[in-house]
Amino acid sequence: MTWNGWILAWRGFLVCSTFIFNVNFHPAAASQPNIVFVLADDYGYNDIGYHGSRIRTPNLDRLASEGVKLENYYVQPVCTPTRSQLMSGRYQIHTGLQHGIIGFAQPNGLPLDNPTLADKLKEAGYSTHMAGKWHLGFYKKDYLPTSRGFDSYFGYLGGSEDYYTHTVCMGRLYGCGLDLRNDVDPDFKENGTYSAFPFTQRAVNVIKAHDKSKPLFLYLAYQSVHAPLQVPERYLEQYSDIKDKHRHIYAGMVSCMDEGVGNVTAALQETGLWNNTVFVFSTDNGGQILEGGNNWPLRGWKGSLWEGGMHGVGFVHSPLLKKQGYVNKELVHVSDWFPTLVGLAGGSLNGTLPLDGFDQWSTISENSSSRRKELLHNIDPMHRPRGQALNTDSFDPRVRAAIRVGDFKLITGDPGNSSWIPPPSDSLFFVPTPVDDAPDKNIWLFNIKDDPNERNDLSQTRPDIVKQLLGRLAFYNSTAVPVRFPPDSLKASPRFHGGVWGPWE
Ligand SMILES: *[C@@H]1O[C@H](CO)[C@@H](O)[C@H](O)[C@H]1NC(C)=O
Ligand SMILES: *[C@@H]1O[C@H](CO)[C@@H](O)[C@H](O)[C@H]1NC(C)=O
Ligand SMILES: *[C@@H]1O[C@H](CO)[C@@H](O)[C@H](O)[C@H]1NC(C)=O
Repeated sequence: MTWNGWILAWRGFLVCSTFIFNVNFHPAAASQPNIVFVLADDYGYNDIGYHGSRIRTPNLDRLASEGVKLENYYVQPVCTPTRSQLMSGRYQIHTGLQHGIIGFAQPNGLPLDNPTLADKLKEAGYSTHMAGKWHLGFYKKDYLPTSRGFDSYFGYLGGSEDYYTHTVCMGRLYGCGLDLRNDVDPDFKENGTYSAFPFTQRAVNVIKAHDKSKPLFLYLAYQSVHAPLQVPERYLEQYSDIKDKHRHIYAGMVSCMDEGVGNVTAALQETGLWNNTVFVFSTDNGGQILEGGNNWPLRGWKGSLWEGGMHGVGFVHSPLLKKQGYVNKELVHVSDWFPTLVGLAGGSLNGTLPLDGFDQWSTISENSSSRRKELLHNIDPMHRPRGQALNTDSFDPRVRAAIRVGDFKLITGDPGNSSWIPPPSDSLFFVPTPVDDAPDKNIWLFNIKDDPNERNDLSQTRPDIVKQLLGRLAFYNSTAVPVRFPPDSLKASPRFHGGVWGPWE
């Protein structure tokens, strides 16, 4: 045997013995990573340091630069839709949640025949814990996080509330109520505490109390940085240079969240969990311009089908990544986390309804090409129609919808707010760029790779591609289930439930 042959043989022995060692003595630790998923709320594309923001995010920047920045990463335009796809791996047209968000008084939720990410990770042997915003329905106890795969929960069930009192008011008809729970019980103890602190603290406590014989799944869904614009004074000091009042407070909110992420990762390091952890950070949708967020240079903002609504901030940090410290430009979508994370956990996808997400671990870890060639952004048949129908039997362009096929993106119907808004840094006012689309225009086509800011509409010059993408929308539409969007119920009022929002059926 040559010298090289000996080296190869010796390496082979090492590989085999490591394998045997892992399988025999540390099956959980070696093969099942801890998964920590941090979701920010309404966090805009231009609101993180590494996208050139004036807002300082040292912890997020460091984690992202050591890990993989996902720069062709998509979420949904608003809260419930993104969270429903994260938890189910399925498009909204397949869960009935294609229209809007779940209201406080709406008897609605992510349908129970969709096992959640937490259900699947628990089934794979994980301890599963959640802190923060749920927003996937609570009208019956069966829809609460602890009924949907989480061993423990501390957070709020609705879409937004006061950061200090943890209460929300829904007009005179419904009144006001507390929305904060520990597992299933209302929690009145945190009155006066800014939510980023107790949510971070809960995450840190879960990490410190974690029994290492099991892998950990922790889902930390911050209230930050959604409206209302509130933050303790000390986070504002470093931003005295930002004169716009909303942007000023928003910047402080972002910095507070960044500090919280630093505390969570420090706890993971102190407990020795970090070197076997996959840490994911994602926004849930684009920034809300009216509440301090910003998505420059992207077009549009939260709630729209433009890139500013859903081209999201996202990154992964983990020593388990084969390739680290790079920018990934492969198409990845929030529905992909479900099969990706269940796959990493060595779990099984059996018992799920057909998934729309793809397992993207090799895409993220090795920068191999994405298995996702198409992305249905959404089809919302309940949104008010726009413009005229076509004389074809293909997809009706009056319907609000958008789809990505390769580099091309087609939008139909009402796309939502469509301005390009630069960050309101020093001035008290900002001036939206005027947009001159006719009010009945209802088809837009862009090459997102060449034109990520959607300035050059190709719908007139490439009718061939418009036709092809309308055909894909028609295909997806043929697989859609009816929209679930029941009317509000007065029974939801906190008046009937001791001043608390919670299950009423
Ligand atoms: C992070 O930890 C420090 C030190 O314990 C603490 O003072 C700070 O309030 C924490 N920040 C958040 C957002 O939890
Ligand atoms: C993680 O660190 C601990 C303690 O330093 C060590 O025993 C363990 O082997 C490491 N695990 C991995 C996957 O590197
Ligand atoms: C598939 O699902 C069944 C029933 O839910 C479960 O008992 C079984 O263990 C699952 N199979 C795997 C490989 O996890």
